[in-house]
Amino acid sequence: GAPLYRGAVDVKIAKTAGFCWGVRRTVDKVMEVADQHRAPVVTLGPIIHNPQAVARFSEKGVGTVNGIGEVTDGTTVVVRTHGAVREELERAEARGLEVVDGTCPYVKYPQAMAQRLSREGYHIVIVGDANHAEIKGVISYSEQPCTVVKPGGPVPEIKAKKVAVIAQTTCIGAEFERVVGVLALRHKEVRAVNTICNDTEERQADARALASEVDAVVVVGGKNSANTRHLAEICRAIQPRTWHVETEAELEAAWFEGCRVVGLSAGASTPDWVVEGVAAWLRVLR
Ligand code: F3S
Repeated sequence: GAPLYRGAVDVKIAKTAGFCWGVRRTVDKVMEVADQHRAPVVTLGPIIHNPQAVARFSEKGVGTVNGIGEVTDGTTVVVRTHGAVREELERAEARGLEVVDGTCPYVKYPQAMAQRLSREGYHIVIVGDANHAEIKGVISYSEQPCTVVKPGGPVPEIKAKKVAVIAQTTCIGAEFERVVGVLALRHKEVRAVNTICNDTEERQADARALASEVDAVVVVGGKNSANTRHLAEICRAIQPRTWHVETEAELEAAWFEGCRVVGLSAGASTPDWVVEGVAAWLRVLR
Protein backbone atom coordinates (compact mmCIF):
# COMPACT_ATOMS: atom_id res chain seq x y z
CA GLY A 1 0.00 0.00 0.00
CA ALA A 2 0.92 3.65 -0.10
CA PRO A 3 3.42 4.63 2.56
CA LEU A 4 2.06 6.66 5.46
CA TYR A 5 2.90 10.31 5.81
CA ARG A 6 5.40 10.67 8.61
CA GLY A 7 4.34 14.11 9.68
CA ALA A 8 4.39 17.60 8.34
CA VAL A 9 6.23 20.84 8.92
CA ASP A 10 5.65 24.39 7.83
CA VAL A 11 8.14 25.45 5.23
CA LYS A 12 9.48 28.94 5.11
CA ILE A 13 11.25 29.71 1.85
CA ALA A 14 13.82 32.52 1.76
CA LYS A 15 12.67 35.34 -0.55
CA THR A 16 15.95 35.17 -2.42
CA ALA A 17 15.97 31.39 -2.95
CA GLY A 18 16.66 30.27 -6.50
CA PHE A 19 18.37 31.72 -9.56
CA CYS A 20 20.08 35.05 -9.10
CA TRP A 21 19.84 37.73 -11.73
CA GLY A 22 23.16 36.76 -13.30
CA VAL A 23 22.35 33.06 -13.60
CA ARG A 24 18.87 33.78 -14.99
CA ARG A 25 20.46 36.02 -17.59
CA THR A 26 23.00 33.39 -18.67
CA VAL A 27 20.48 30.56 -18.66
CA ASP A 28 18.11 32.59 -20.88
CA LYS A 29 20.97 33.38 -23.21
CA VAL A 30 21.95 29.73 -23.57
CA MET A 31 18.34 28.69 -24.18
CA GLU A 32 18.06 31.34 -26.87
CA VAL A 33 21.27 30.25 -28.56
CA ALA A 34 20.26 26.58 -28.37
CA ASP A 35 16.91 27.34 -30.00
CA GLN A 36 18.30 29.51 -32.80
CA HIS A 37 21.45 27.68 -33.77
CA ARG A 38 21.57 24.72 -36.01
CA ALA A 39 25.28 24.40 -35.29
CA PRO A 40 26.38 22.58 -32.12
CA VAL A 41 26.47 24.64 -28.92
CA VAL A 42 28.79 23.97 -26.00
CA THR A 43 29.46 25.76 -22.76
CA LEU A 44 33.00 26.28 -21.56
CA GLY A 45 32.78 24.33 -18.30
CA PRO A 46 29.41 23.42 -16.73
CA ILE A 47 27.05 26.32 -17.33
CA ILE A 48 26.24 26.73 -13.66
CA HIS A 49 27.24 24.72 -10.62
CA ASN A 50 24.05 22.71 -10.49
CA PRO A 51 24.09 19.15 -11.86
CA GLN A 52 20.28 19.08 -12.24
CA ALA A 53 20.25 22.22 -14.39
CA VAL A 54 23.22 21.00 -16.44
CA ALA A 55 21.31 17.77 -17.16
CA ARG A 56 18.37 19.79 -18.53
CA PHE A 57 20.70 21.65 -20.85
CA SER A 58 22.25 18.50 -22.22
CA GLU A 59 18.71 17.29 -23.02
CA LYS A 60 18.46 20.42 -25.18
CA GLY A 61 21.61 19.40 -27.00
CA VAL A 62 23.92 21.84 -25.23
CA GLY A 63 27.19 20.11 -24.45
CA THR A 64 29.98 20.94 -22.04
CA VAL A 65 33.69 21.15 -22.80
CA ASN A 66 36.59 21.80 -20.47
CA GLY A 67 38.65 23.84 -22.89
CA ILE A 68 38.71 25.30 -26.40
CA GLY A 69 41.03 22.46 -27.40
CA GLU A 70 38.02 20.10 -27.25
CA VAL A 71 35.81 22.25 -29.49
CA THR A 72 35.29 21.26 -33.12
CA ASP A 73 35.16 23.95 -35.83
CA GLY A 74 31.77 25.55 -36.41
CA THR A 75 30.66 25.08 -32.82
CA THR A 76 29.24 28.01 -30.86
CA VAL A 77 30.93 28.46 -27.50
CA VAL A 78 29.06 29.95 -24.55
CA VAL A 79 31.02 31.47 -21.67
CA ARG A 80 29.30 30.63 -18.41
CA THR A 81 28.33 32.94 -15.52
CA HIS A 82 31.70 32.37 -13.80
CA GLY A 83 33.55 33.73 -16.80
CA ALA A 84 36.56 32.18 -18.51
CA VAL A 85 40.32 32.36 -18.55
CA ARG A 86 41.45 35.10 -20.95
CA GLU A 87 43.83 32.83 -22.88
CA GLU A 88 40.96 30.46 -23.66
CA LEU A 89 38.92 33.30 -25.16
CA GLU A 90 41.92 34.36 -27.23
CA ARG A 91 42.28 30.79 -28.45
CA ALA A 92 38.62 30.75 -29.47
CA GLU A 93 38.99 34.05 -31.28
CA ALA A 94 42.12 32.89 -33.10
CA ARG A 95 40.15 29.92 -34.41
CA GLY A 96 37.27 32.10 -35.53
CA LEU A 97 34.75 30.35 -33.28
CA GLU A 98 31.53 32.15 -32.42
CA VAL A 99 31.59 33.07 -28.73
CA VAL A 100 28.51 34.07 -26.75
CA ASP A 101 29.55 35.79 -23.55
CA GLY A 102 27.39 34.70 -20.63
CA THR A 103 29.78 36.04 -17.99
CA CYS A 104 27.80 37.68 -15.20
CA PRO A 105 28.47 41.44 -15.18
CA TYR A 106 29.18 41.13 -11.45
CA VAL A 107 32.00 38.70 -12.31
CA LYS A 108 33.41 41.10 -14.90
CA TYR A 109 33.95 43.62 -12.14
CA PRO A 110 36.72 41.70 -10.27
CA GLN A 111 38.20 40.73 -13.67
CA ALA A 112 38.39 44.37 -14.72
CA MET A 113 39.72 45.43 -11.32
CA ALA A 114 42.45 42.77 -11.38
CA GLN A 115 43.54 44.04 -14.76
CA ARG A 116 43.41 47.74 -13.97
CA LEU A 117 44.95 47.68 -10.51
CA SER A 118 47.74 45.28 -11.52
CA ARG A 119 48.61 47.73 -14.29
CA GLU A 120 48.70 50.50 -11.72
CA GLY A 121 51.34 48.55 -9.80
CA TYR A 122 49.23 46.99 -7.07
CA HIS A 123 49.85 43.42 -5.98
CA ILE A 124 46.42 41.79 -6.31
CA VAL A 125 45.03 39.82 -3.38
CA ILE A 126 41.87 37.83 -4.03
CA VAL A 127 39.77 36.49 -1.18
CA GLY A 128 38.31 33.30 -2.58
CA ASP A 129 38.90 29.74 -3.70
CA ALA A 130 41.89 29.40 -6.04
CA ASN A 131 40.38 26.28 -7.59
CA HIS A 132 37.09 27.95 -8.49
CA ALA A 133 36.53 28.79 -12.16
CA GLU A 134 35.64 32.39 -11.34
CA ILE A 135 38.96 32.96 -9.59
CA LYS A 136 40.97 31.27 -12.32
CA GLY A 137 39.33 33.71 -14.72
CA VAL A 138 40.00 36.73 -12.50
CA ILE A 139 43.68 35.76 -12.10
CA SER A 140 44.07 35.56 -15.86
CA TYR A 141 43.20 39.26 -16.15
CA SER A 142 45.89 40.37 -13.72
CA GLU A 143 49.11 41.37 -15.40
CA GLN A 144 51.20 40.40 -12.35
CA PRO A 145 51.14 37.27 -10.16
CA CYS A 146 48.26 37.34 -7.62
CA THR A 147 47.86 36.02 -4.09
CA VAL A 148 44.68 34.09 -3.35
CA VAL A 149 43.61 33.94 0.29
CA LYS A 150 41.23 31.14 1.13
CA PRO A 151 38.31 32.15 3.36
CA GLY A 152 39.28 31.25 6.92
CA GLY A 153 42.87 30.64 5.84
CA PRO A 154 46.10 32.42 6.73
CA VAL A 155 47.08 35.65 4.99
CA PRO A 156 50.63 35.08 3.68
CA GLU A 157 53.40 37.67 3.82
CA ILE A 158 53.48 39.63 0.59
CA LYS A 159 56.51 41.59 -0.59
CA ALA A 160 54.85 44.65 -2.06
CA LYS A 161 54.25 48.22 -0.97
CA LYS A 162 50.87 48.58 -2.58
CA VAL A 163 48.29 45.83 -2.41
CA ALA A 164 44.74 45.78 -3.76
CA VAL A 165 42.20 43.39 -2.27
CA ILE A 166 39.24 42.08 -4.23
CA ALA A 167 36.83 39.25 -3.44
CA GLN A 168 35.17 36.32 -5.13
CA THR A 169 31.63 37.54 -5.94
CA THR A 170 30.17 34.98 -3.53
CA CYS A 171 32.57 35.69 -0.65
CA ILE A 172 31.25 36.14 2.88
CA GLY A 173 31.52 39.85 3.78
CA ALA A 174 33.20 39.27 7.15
CA GLU A 175 35.98 37.27 5.45
CA PHE A 176 36.77 40.09 3.05
CA GLU A 177 36.85 42.48 5.99
CA ARG A 178 39.22 40.23 7.92
CA VAL A 179 41.76 39.98 5.11
CA VAL A 180 41.64 43.72 4.43
CA GLY A 181 42.18 44.33 8.16
CA VAL A 182 45.24 42.08 8.35
CA LEU A 183 46.83 43.68 5.27
CA ALA A 184 46.06 47.21 6.40
CA LEU A 185 48.45 46.76 9.31
CA ARG A 186 51.23 45.35 7.15
CA HIS A 187 51.38 47.52 4.05
CA LYS A 188 51.80 51.21 3.33
CA GLU A 189 48.89 51.28 0.97
CA VAL A 190 45.91 48.93 0.82
CA ARG A 191 43.18 49.43 -1.68
CA ALA A 192 40.01 47.42 -0.98
CA VAL A 193 37.46 47.00 -3.73
CA ASN A 194 34.36 45.18 -2.59
CA THR A 195 33.52 42.99 -5.56
CA ILE A 196 31.05 40.80 -3.66
CA CYS A 197 27.91 40.85 -5.78
CA ASN A 198 24.70 42.46 -4.50
CA ASP A 199 22.79 39.26 -4.89
CA THR A 200 25.23 37.40 -2.64
CA GLU A 201 24.97 40.04 0.08
CA GLU A 202 21.15 39.96 0.03
CA ARG A 203 20.97 36.19 -0.12
CA GLN A 204 23.37 35.79 2.82
CA ALA A 205 21.50 38.37 4.92
CA ASP A 206 18.28 36.58 4.11
CA ALA A 207 19.72 33.19 5.07
CA ARG A 208 20.98 34.60 8.37
CA ALA A 209 17.55 36.00 9.23
CA LEU A 210 15.82 32.80 8.18
CA ALA A 211 18.12 30.55 10.22
CA SER A 212 17.34 32.45 13.39
CA GLU A 213 13.58 31.98 12.93
CA VAL A 214 13.25 28.27 12.23
CA ASP A 215 13.82 24.87 13.87
CA ALA A 216 15.96 23.50 11.04
CA VAL A 217 17.31 24.71 7.70
CA VAL A 218 17.66 22.98 4.38
CA VAL A 219 20.01 24.66 1.91
CA VAL A 220 19.41 23.48 -1.64
CA GLY A 221 22.04 23.61 -4.33
CA GLY A 222 24.99 21.99 -6.06
CA LYS A 223 27.59 20.43 -3.79
CA ASN A 224 30.14 22.11 -6.11
CA SER A 225 28.48 25.52 -5.78
CA ALA A 226 30.57 27.94 -3.72
CA ASN A 227 27.73 30.29 -2.91
CA THR A 228 25.48 27.42 -1.79
CA ARG A 229 28.20 26.06 0.50
CA HIS A 230 28.63 29.52 2.02
CA LEU A 231 24.90 29.75 2.69
CA ALA A 232 25.02 26.40 4.49
CA GLU A 233 27.98 27.61 6.61
CA ILE A 234 26.18 30.83 7.53
CA CYS A 235 22.99 28.99 8.48
CA ARG A 236 24.83 26.27 10.42
CA ALA A 237 26.57 28.88 12.57
CA ILE A 238 23.14 30.07 13.71
CA GLN A 239 21.05 26.91 13.44
CA PRO A 240 23.14 23.73 13.88
CA ARG A 241 20.34 21.66 12.34
CA THR A 242 21.28 22.73 8.83
CA TRP A 243 21.50 20.38 5.86
CA HIS A 244 22.87 20.98 2.40
CA VAL A 245 21.22 18.84 -0.27
CA GLU A 246 21.03 18.89 -4.05
CA THR A 247 17.53 17.43 -4.32
CA GLU A 248 14.76 16.01 -2.13
CA ALA A 249 16.10 12.51 -2.77
CA GLU A 250 18.75 13.10 -0.09
CA LEU A 251 16.34 14.19 2.65
CA GLU A 252 15.51 12.03 5.65
CA ALA A 253 12.43 12.49 7.80
CA ALA A 254 14.48 11.79 10.97
CA TRP A 255 16.39 15.05 10.48
CA PHE A 256 13.23 17.01 11.23
CA GLU A 257 12.16 15.16 14.38
CA GLY A 258 10.35 17.65 16.63
CA CYS A 259 10.56 20.52 14.12
CA ARG A 260 7.61 22.79 13.52
CA VAL A 261 9.03 25.22 10.97
CA VAL A 262 11.79 24.38 8.50
CA GLY A 263 13.56 27.14 6.59
CA LEU A 264 14.55 26.69 2.99
CA SER A 265 17.40 28.59 1.43
CA ALA A 266 18.87 27.97 -2.00
CA GLY A 267 21.96 28.92 -3.94
CA ALA A 268 22.10 31.31 -6.87
CA SER A 269 22.42 28.42 -9.30
CA THR A 270 19.54 26.34 -7.94
CA PRO A 271 16.55 26.17 -10.32
CA ASP A 272 13.11 26.97 -8.88
CA TRP A 273 11.81 23.51 -9.73
CA VAL A 274 14.48 21.91 -7.57
CA VAL A 275 13.62 24.24 -4.65
CA GLU A 276 9.93 23.41 -5.14
CA GLY A 277 10.68 19.69 -5.09
CA VAL A 278 12.37 20.02 -1.70
CA ALA A 279 9.57 22.23 -0.32
CA ALA A 280 6.95 19.74 -1.47
CA TRP A 281 8.80 16.88 0.23
CA LEU A 282 9.18 18.80 3.47
CA ARG A 283 5.52 19.78 3.65
CA VAL A 284 4.60 16.11 4.05
CA LEU A 285 8.01 14.78 5.16
CA ARG A 286 8.37 12.12 2.51
FE1 F3S B 1 26.33 37.07 -10.84
FE2 F3S B 1 26.15 37.27 -8.29
FE3 F3S B 1 24.68 35.58 -9.53
S1 F3S B 1 27.98 37.26 -9.45
S2 F3S B 1 25.90 34.95 -11.25
S3 F3S B 1 24.54 37.77 -9.73
S4 F3S B 1 25.59 35.26 -7.53
